[in-house]
Amino acid sequence: MDHFNYKNNLLHCENTPVEKIAQEFGTPTYLYSAQTFRDHFNRLQQAFAPANPLICYAMKSCSNIAILKLLTLLGAGMDVVSGGELHRARIAQVPGSKIVFAGVGKTDREIREAMLYQSSPTQKKGIRLFNIESEAEFENIANIARALGKPCAATLRINPDVDPHTHKYTTTGTKETKFGVDLTRARQFFTKYGNNDNCKLNALHLHIGSPVYSTKPYIEALSRALQLVDNLKHDGFIINTINLGGGFAADYESKQSPPAKDYAKALLPLIQDRINRGELNIILEPGRTIAANAGILLTRVQYVKHSGCKRFIIVDAGMHTLIRPALYGSFHFIWPTSVAPHHIPNERKERMTMNGLDQVDIVGPICESGDFLAQDRKIPPLARGDLIAVFSAGAYGSVMASRYNSSPLPAEVLVDDNQIKLIRKRETYQDLIQHEQTCK
Ligand code: LLP
Repeated sequence: MDHFNYKNNLLHCENTPVEKIAQEFGTPTYLYSAQTFRDHFNRLQQAFAPANPLICYAMKSCSNIAILKLLTLLGAGMDVVSGGELHRARIAQVPGSKIVFAGVGKTDREIREAMLYQSSPTQKKGIRLFNIESEAEFENIANIARALGKPCAATLRINPDVDPHTHKYTTTGTKETKFGVDLTRARQFFTKYGNNDNCKLNALHLHIGSPVYSTKPYIEALSRALQLVDNLKHDGFIINTINLGGGFAADYESKQSPPAKDYAKALLPLIQDRINRGELNIILEPGRTIAANAGILLTRVQYVKHSGCKRFIIVDAGMHTLIRPALYGSFHFIWPTSVAPHHIPNERKERMTMNGLDQVDIVGPICESGDFLAQDRKIPPLARGDLIAVFSAGAYGSVMASRYNSSPLPAEVLVDDNQIKLIRKRETYQDLIQHEQTCK
């Protein structure tokens, strides 16, 4: 489903050998395939077509403006979580009617910016929905809407207390987390705020965690939400929209993650009747399932080092350019971009059991032992100067990058068929210090 393939023993992004990108733009570099972004978006849209959902891309996963524009042209809306992301949405000309604003800690400034959001002077001001996480936040948003004379609309994020069986740090739908309002309180929430004129509350929002590799937790969470919809109807409140959140899987390790159509097959039967009766609209907030496999991180081997019983491959990427292995112990497939014919990977599971592989730790230049991309990993023999690709780095790669150790942020490049576009320049040393007040 992605467009990163080995042809004549060389890794290509669409039709371009990735070595060419590294030579032109240096390393480390995030390299994206435009066609993969399009395919992944379309795949999700087709899978959920019977529900005619609004797909609000979770731009936190990969927010380069070129990517946002590409998805906006396909009809995507955006899930934003900050004033900064709202600014990006404006630059990418996302209509306010397609923006949902999530996050537990929206500031007054961000709330005002969302209420006054306009992607062009002819557009109506405001965004589609605030995803509200607490009573205190509701009151604040309603007060700001009254003060501005700009009534707004909101979803209540509920916490269904369902375990998505993913990493603790990215689990959001269980009751110990800071997210959402539990189901009992949700009913009281509507009793208290469901008739507010400044902030109209007609929708529910769910996001149980990410990535979620099974459809079961979604079914459980949605079933609980639908029970709440019925209870609220009994109380006199009509819910016309459910936002199912994101968290849909990406292919990190094997081709075993459920495809979009499996999630749709599991969820649509629960809601199709209500949709057909015109009672319910659906919003989705996918990030990773669109972006992860649409990008790789290109990095060059600096040194090969033996220490104790280990062999280290020291590369110019690391926890500063892809923090997921260090932070969550995440697996990213890593492979040289130029290989012998017997080392051309097919299905990723097979790749790990080939002959003639070395076992290595792939580590970065950062002064921390937690700075690794892979540990005890089987990979074809590598030497100084070799180019390697860290796969599935399109989501939560560049957006979580830091300048730790005064490392300039990498370049980002987008390949679109035969076009190669530099969509973010590599930072310079001057960029690193530009906001510091230097002593005169
Ligand atoms: N909606 C809400 C409310 C979210 O909090 C998130 C992700 C998404 C949608 C999109 O989830 P996705 O479809 O991309 O899985 N840094 C972590 C992931 C953190 C996700 C935070 N929220 C990682 O690298 O795995």
